Amino acid sequence: MRRKYTKYLYIAGVLLVIGNLLGSCVVFLQVNDTTHFYLVNPMSYIISQKDTLCYKKRTENTADIDGTGFFQRPTIFFHSTYCDKILDDSTACAIESAARLHPQTHINLLYTSPVELKTWNHLLSILVKLPNFHMTGIHVESYADGTEFEKFWKSVVVYNKVVDYKLVAEYIKFLTLHKFGGTVLDKDVIVNKCLDELGENWVIREGESMLGTDAIAMSRSDFNRNFTAMVLRSFSQQIMKGNINVSVAITNSFKNLCPGTDFTETYTRCHGYDIYDGKQFHPIDHSERQQFLQSGSYNKKAHAHRLWDVEVPGKMIPYKTLYAEIAQTFCPWVFSKLNNEY
Ligand SMILES: *[C@@H]1O[C@H](CO)[C@@H](O)[C@H](O)[C@H]1NC(C)=O
Ligand SMILES: *[C@@H]1O[C@H](CO)[C@@H](O)[C@H](O)[C@H]1NC(C)=O
Repeated sequence: MRRKYTKYLYIAGVLLVIGNLLGSCVVFLQVNDTTHFYLVNPMSYIISQKDTLCYKKRTENTADIDGTGFFQRPTIFFHSTYCDKILDDSTACAIESAARLHPQTHINLLYTSPVELKTWNHLLSILVKLPNFHMTGIHVESYADGTEFEKFWKSVVVYNKVVDYKLVAEYIKFLTLHKFGGTVLDKDVIVNKCLDELGENWVIREGESMLGTDAIAMSRSDFNRNFTAMVLRSFSQQIMKGNINVSVAITNSFKNLCPGTDFTETYTRCHGYDIYDGKQFHPIDHSERQQFLQSGSYNKKAHAHRLWDVEVPGKMIPYKTLYAEIAQTFCPWVFSKLNNEY
């Protein structure tokens, strides 16, 4: 009897050691000739993560982004500012659709979460097979370094003035545009048409007289640096006042640099900018998002569909829904992985 117990104890001990080893090393991904690897912090299971702790901490995977030439161009950026996951399933679909429709463009996912087994998304293992997809870990607190917003941003992050991951994403989005230029898409925007035909500099109209921030494109230029600086200044003031509306920040900045712009009239271009209707990017509004879970066809005229925060039951995308039609068409790998693995 006693011998048997000892044996079980022994086996349990061995299993524990193996489990710890597995949980505390490296995630390896072999893609074609390249091995991608991500370090996993063995202490991460012991130290519980606060929601925004990752904004202050550097990890093994944090990139040293030096200089404005860090990212190869042309580029489309996605920003994921969670601390407890690298990305949502819907963002994986957004990335695949952007990568497929823009094979010559670098698709960059900037993420803030530490890389751990529990923050990893199994869909990443198929995304890294897309040759133009890159993921870069960024350190939120130092992301404004080298810009006029460095001091402000550091103090905001340090004193937890911005605790909402969505707001952090908005601020970082404009810092990315300010530093590197390029196209930014919100992480739930599934592209349905190549965006190149829209030109190099564009913003989208939100309602009748405002601009939105779910999709923006700008080349690197002095004018655009001024534009994004103005948005960031306005956004910073809003943060200090606790009255945050990024749509107001971008709209006022644009009107300031392009006086007399009336978004309701036929738009005369200012500094090479085009203004497109927001419906081009979200033909289905947030309030109608349940439509994604009903049968239907996607809007063939739109450049994208924004999925908003529509919740799918379980992890699968229900067949014969609009969501499934969009996913099967624009992110077939993600769709089949999601719907065959659960
Ligand atoms: C950018 O702003 C600076 C300083 O306000 C100004 O001198 C410069 O002319 C602006 N450049 C463009 C292209 O708008
Ligand atoms: C931002 O302000 C505009 C104009 O005042 C308003 O229509 C919009 O609903 C506001 N957005 C948010 C998220 O509060």
